[in-house]
Amino acid sequence: MTPGPRSPDAERSAKLASVIRAEIESTSDGRITFARFMERALYEPRLGYYRQSADRPTDAGDFLTAPETHPIFGRTIARRIEEMWVSLGRPSPFALIEYGAGSGTLGLAILDGLRRHGSDDLLGSIRYEPVESNPYRLADLQQRFEQDGLADRVASSGPDGSAGGTASEEPVPVTGVILANEFLDALPVHRVVVRGGKLLELFVVWRNGADGSAGRFAEVVAEPSTPELAARLADDGNEPGQLAEGQVAEICLGLGPWLDEVAARLASGFVLVIDYGYEAAELYGPRRLAGSLLGYRGHRVAEDPFADVGLTDLTAHVDFTALGLLAERRGFVFAGLATQQEFLVAAGLELELQALQASPELTLADYMRARSGILRMLDPRHMGRFRVLTLERD
Ligand SMILES: C[S@@+](CC[C@H](N)C(=O)[O-])C[C@H]1O[C@@H](n2cnc3c(N)ncnc32)[C@H](O)[C@@H]1O
Repeated sequence: MTPGPRSPDAERSAKLASVIRAEIESTSDGRITFARFMERALYEPRLGYYRQSADRPTDAGDFLTAPETHPIFGRTIARRIEEMWVSLGRPSPFALIEYGAGSGTLGLAILDGLRRHGSDDLLGSIRYEPVESNPYRLADLQQRFEQDGLADRVASSGPDGSAGGTASEEPVPVTGVILANEFLDALPVHRVVVRGGKLLELFVVWRNGADGSAGRFAEVVAEPSTPELAARLADDGNEPGQLAEGQVAEICLGLGPWLDEVAARLASGFVLVIDYGYEAAELYGPRRLAGSLLGYRGHRVAEDPFADVGLTDLTAHVDFTALGLLAERRGFVFAGLATQQEFLVAAGLELELQALQASPELTLADYMRARSGILRMLDPRHMGRFRVLTLERD
């Protein structure tokens, strides 16, 4: 029987697999790091997961982020941003740079929050700058800000919306807040494993199928591609020898370059990072012997990171110890690490809920939606355990 025609998604995934396979086969040792595989799986122009037109963080997509569950998340963050603005002496203009802005749901909820709070001076001073590598999301974002009458608050994000992009001009450092919600967990990670007490790395190879069956990606273990991996673990106070025998761990070497970019853009102000993740002792501790790499497709965890390449979101938890240390080395001051639950409560989530309940237009359906969204944001088994890192500069 001849196989039927493949869906456009399946076609695209097969094409992406073949370009990654070609890169693997062109190397002298027939393998690439997992970080390189993840980079191409997520960001390959036209083919990668984060280059598609379909909107992923939605009910119909692959995952739901806190801003997508309810605007109360963004409105609560608006309160914290206003406090930051006041502590900086109410500067104008005031930049709000959002990494991984998607279609602007969080940015819109923050500006809407300022409007609701009557923070007109801050709203009038804000220049919202989305940094978003997916051109379809950026187009959605522009359209949504126009519809809400907020297009004049949006500043251009440069010729290539990617973090670490190809902008030829040096950014002019600004005063403001840099925000990243569920952005850093998508940066490519290396994978390491301890074998015979030694730190080794997991590389990606291509295995041809036997007897005409389809080939597939697989992992092999070899000496680490760079001493930076062991150095990062040592830096974290987690000497490679402290990982258990057989333990697998992910290491994101992209954190430093991202912080370089953030340091170059922010003259004074704050950085707020919200994401899946832990401090190193927990992230690399005995409860996570298999690491934290996960794939998501259609709101389900995909066990095999190599299945449906380009159609599956790949994420790994953020190492907040490393992020804090690397930031301090770039002149930032550590200003707090909290769980998302603690952060939202301290920032005034309850006041937002009261305002919502007092709203004359509130329907029962709206109230139920807000309630279930808030439960997800605060639930320690769910998004409530996300970490929120605050950094200060100058
Ligand atoms: C998980 S979504 C989160 C979207 C939004 N922050 C939210 O919380 O709903 C990650 C977003 O980051 C974007 N992104 C991922 N890597 C990026 C990069 N290196 N530069 C710019 N944007 C990136 C993706 O296209 C996607 O829109």
